[in-house]
Amino acid sequence: MKVLNQLTSPEAMDLENKYGAHNYHPLPVVLSRGEGVYVWDVEGKQYYDFLSAYSAVNQGHCHPKIVNAMIDQAQNLSLISRAFYSDVLGRYEKFACEYFGFDKLLPMNTGSEAVETALKLCRKWAYEIKGIAENKAEIIVCKNNFHGRTTTIISFSNDEIARKNFGPFTKGFIKIEYDNLQALEDVLERNKNVAGFLVEPIQGEAGVYVPREGYLSKAKALCEKHNVLFIADEVQTGIARTGKLLAVDHENVKPDVLILGKALSGGAYPVSAVLANDDIMNVIKPGTHGSTFGGNPIAAAVAIAALEVIRDEDLTENAETMGQLFRSELNKYIEISPLVKLVRGKGLLNAIVINDDEESETAWNICLALRDNGLLAKPTHGNIIRFAPPLVMTEEQILDCVGIITKTLQQFEV
Ligand SMILES: Cc1ncc(COP(=O)(O)O)c(C=O)c1O
Repeated sequence: MKVLNQLTSPEAMDLENKYGAHNYHPLPVVLSRGEGVYVWDVEGKQYYDFLSAYSAVNQGHCHPKIVNAMIDQAQNLSLISRAFYSDVLGRYEKFACEYFGFDKLLPMNTGSEAVETALKLCRKWAYEIKGIAENKAEIIVCKNNFHGRTTTIISFSNDEIARKNFGPFTKGFIKIEYDNLQALEDVLERNKNVAGFLVEPIQGEAGVYVPREGYLSKAKALCEKHNVLFIADEVQTGIARTGKLLAVDHENVKPDVLILGKALSGGAYPVSAVLANDDIMNVIKPGTHGSTFGGNPIAAAVAIAALEVIRDEDLTENAETMGQLFRSELNKYIEISPLVKLVRGKGLLNAIVINDDEESETAWNICLALRDNGLLAKPTHGNIIRFAPPLVMTEEQILDCVGIITKTLQQFEV
């Protein structure tokens, strides 16, 4: 470990570039430590983390309560597979079910796995409960979605880079415009084989696209009318990120199937889950689905701690308050800025849109300058930068960050 700690930034980047597959394009900064809202690079420079590992680190880096839960559990029992019962899985399942208001939880590891699980659950429910003829079930999805990277999930993506040369793709998905109730209704009216509607309550990767107010509640009502499962992918938006425990809570919507990941562990460990009530989840029987690591004792202990931190530290309320402050302070600059079109978002999931085209390098170059000024963020498109810091931000820190962001943006005004 000592040798690794002595690496310089160029050495660490060279190693990743030489020995790692090039499936990402990281910002050139090499991090070796994190605490709360801060991360440090190998040369010791401190940064505000405005990505939070794509909203996994809502509770802040290396939260002591989560780290301790992980260490304690790792010293007792780490993995047994689901071949046996453990003394923590049931406790976690009860805790999370009561926390989110569902009868049952199916534990997985990554967000993509949880999405896959929800799709399988939906199809099985369609055949065994709704009565759709075998292999005819369809699931409605939205354009510009991001639900992960598996073959089935990219089958209904419209990101050409994510899809090119990965076919043949999985059938059974109907893609409609996001934030378009008429499009949803049209499909539901004419197609009786629809089993579910999979939706991100705010499209994160698309650039923090917030749908019009009423979209989610009306979409849920349409799904109810047509006996179609409303499946909320809250992998990025869930667990306090948007200023409510779940982003669907902004419209008082109760999904039939809830998908969680990322912050379910506070970023300490890959933990994801699908939650649903018995009338849906009971179609899952032994042998129908599973994962060696899903629901392992460390994951269960970590998830309980991570959810307790959200509740005990009022992080939902803090995300709402700090998010309002962030947008209103940033808007003071945007009103007079020739460079930035707008800031949008909810809670501490926000993005700015730059006055430039999607293929431009501007957002990337701004992120490099933000890094130089002590704040790490990543573009979602050539002209959109997401700002999603840990939810433990204080008012003083948020104002400091708005200062860094506006100072940096001013460097790009021409
Ligand atoms: C909405 C949404 N769903 C699913 C995923 C996939 O999660 P994972 O990367 O853990 O597989 C992501 C990841 O960013 C996401 O934002």
